[in-house]
Parts: sequence; structure tokens; C-alpha cells
Amino acid sequence: MEGFDFTFMLEFSREKRNVEHIASVAKGLTAVTIVSTATYASTTSGNVYRLTARRRSPVLKAGRATFGRVCAAMVVIGFSGAVGNTPLIELRELSRELGRRVLAKAEFLNPGGSVKDRAARGIVDDAEACGALQPAGTIVEGTAGNTGIALALVASERGYKSVFVVPDDQSREKINLLQVYGSDVRVVPAVPFTDPENYYHVARRIAKETATAFWANQFENTANRRAHETTTGPEIWEQTGGSIDAFVASAGTGGTIAGVATALKTRRSDILTVLCDPMGSALYNYVNNGELTTEGESDLEGIGIKRITANFEAAPIDRAIRVTDGQAIAMAHWLLEHEGIFVGGSSGLNVVGAAKVAGDLPTGSTVVTILCDGGGRYVSRMFDDAWMRENNFAKQQALPAILGRG
Ligand SMILES: Cc1ncc(COP(=O)(O)O)c(C=O)c1O
Repeated sequence: MEGFDFTFMLEFSREKRNVEHIASVAKGLTAVTIVSTATYASTTSGNVYRLTARRRSPVLKAGRATFGRVCAAMVVIGFSGAVGNTPLIELRELSRELGRRVLAKAEFLNPGGSVKDRAARGIVDDAEACGALQPAGTIVEGTAGNTGIALALVASERGYKSVFVVPDDQSREKINLLQVYGSDVRVVPAVPFTDPENYYHVARRIAKETATAFWANQFENTANRRAHETTTGPEIWEQTGGSIDAFVASAGTGGTIAGVATALKTRRSDILTVLCDPMGSALYNYVNNGELTTEGESDLEGIGIKRITANFEAAPIDRAIRVTDGQAIAMAHWLLEHEGIFVGGSSGLNVVGAAKVAGDLPTGSTVVTILCDGGGRYVSRMFDDAWMRENNFAKQQALPAILGRG
């Protein structure tokens, strides 16, 4: 049978049921064949089953099914336990328009609100395991905001203090959150990496001068990349049942794209992996022709780098494409208006990249990307009409215009 596999959970209270019964309860799953079923976990109220099903007509039937009692009925332990296992959302309208499935990993639904929760948990777990972070110690990091937000929450969960150095070109919302979470926040001028006052170098110095400090160093600490190789990538593989043609993402530290690309390529080497890069970042040229050169600039937060980090190095990325701020921001507005999905600029950029890559693949192909954080972090910027006008961005654009096919 032609189609694609997907995996979901069903919880049954009381007695164990047989496979046919489980399948019959999966209400609304029209045109599906159950491929396999397994007991996933036992809870106090019953058993959770993991089902893999195959569905025909991927694009036309997309998202129509109501899954009844499908749930992720596991109890998780604390903030760290709630990180990951995010939904993979089929962007229905976009997929219908393109005739290809675009699936987006909803990382903005992590408990700290961004993809960086995974990196933060991974980095702290690793530091505890190797003794770099001692009980009641201090976590220090230079951050565009989301990593700090995630580390601050892991710190409160585990009894650490936190100090964050944030460049002053990041949104007020993110800086405010760090302060609300009780961290010591040092806002510094946004200067190039080569300047010793760049937030990265300031954080390193603070860590060196602070007793019991641990410098998370998300750019060079490969526990970041491993967190995605061991969680995000395998989740995408399972959620698509291996039916994935391409993975597309941008890079801030490179942890997400490198980790996910490695996990997917290890499972199936012909999955296309594509970096989508904002203007002003050197990675586009680096991936395509080995040169660390840049053109233009970008206001998007959390993504784009001019150097090769340990997390990005040797990532199995096939090619790179460019996406402009105008396209990314217009797509974030389009997603809100047409899909009911409220995300920030890097997510908009990723979806533009995924749509472009999908357009070059055969009809019915599946492309996966990342929704990095929620739009609430940018209400004073890209979701503010005055800011949009001042920066010459247009929010209402038809899809072909956003994708540069207008
Ligand atoms: C909003 C946002 N999007 C994307 C990214 C990129 O993630 P990574 O650092 O894993 O490349 C970040 C990283 O900080 C971010 O803050």
C-alpha cells in the first residue's frame, strides 16, 4: 500500500486489549492500516500502546483525522522529564498548497518554550556526570536568550545559580523572562565576535572568575549536539515511521541541525539534509563552497554564525539555501493566519526553507523542519505593526510571494 507510516500512542485503562480492539478504537483514522503495535508503558491507570499505522493519500487526508483517545499518557519527572517528545505537526494548508507534506517539530512546546531546552538539559546532565558542575554551583552562559531561559529553569529545578550574558540586540521579552526566572542577567553591547567584549567572551571571563562556576559554552560543548542526536533526531524518525525525504533547519550553534542530520543519516543515508541560512551568516557559503564569507545582514534572533563551531563541524549537511528576513517574518505571520501556529522568526525561516526544498522534490514527498520558539517572545518586534513599518517588513503576503515564486 502506498502512503506513509506514523506512530501514535493510545492509552487503555483497565484490562489489556488485543490488537484489533486497539485499532478499532483509533477513531477517525480513515484509510489506515495498523502496521505494528507494542506495549509502550504501564501506568497506574492502564497500559499505553505504541501503534505504527500506514495511511494513504498523505497530502489530501492530512490532518483530517481526529485521534480520539490518542495521548502521550506518560508521567514525566520534573522540568527535565518534560523536555522533548514534542508533536510533529503537519502544516495542513502549506502541505495542501505545495502537494508535498511539510512536517514541523513543535519545539516551542517544550516546557521552557524553545528547542534550547534539549541542549540545556543535555549540557547540564553531561556536566554533572563528568563533575564539571558541582552541587549548588553556578551555571554561566552567553546567550541570545533561549539557551539562558532553558538553563535558568534547569538551574532552579536542580538547585544551581545562573548568570547570563545577553547582547542588547535581543528581544526585551527574552531578557525580561531571564530576570523573572531569578538569574543574574548582564546585558552587553552587541559587538562582533572578534571584539573581546562580545557576549561569548564576557561569559567565558565571568565563568573563569567565579568560584564553582560552570561555563555551558553551547557553541563548543558538543553535549548540545548529542542531545539532538539522541532525542530530536530519533523522535523525528519514529514519528514519521522513517518516511522522510528531507530535513531542513537553520543553525545558531549548529547543535540542532548537526545532531538531527547525524541521527537521520545514520538511519537512512539518502535523506536530504539542508541548512537554511539567514543573510549575514557565513554558513551558506561554507556549506556550498567551503568559504567562510558573508553578504547582507539579518535581524533574526538566535541563528546565523560567521565561524565553524564544534557543534556544526563535520555535520552531514548536503547543501545550503538562503532565506531573507522578509521571507522569514512574512512566513511567521502566514503561519499564524493560516495554520494557527504562533512562532518566531527562525521558525518562519525554517518553514520557508522547508517549503523551498519540498518544491524541488517529487509530489507527495515529506520534508521535516523545526519550530524553534514561540511568537510570544517577539510581540514587541515582528508582531508589532510599528516595528514592522519601521523595518520595512510586509506581513500580508501570498504564499508564492513569500517563497519567491510570485
Ligand atoms: C530562536 C532560535 N532559533 C534557532 C536556534 C538555533 O538552534 P541551534 O543553536 O541548535 O543551532 C536558536 C539557538 O539559540 C534560537 O534561539
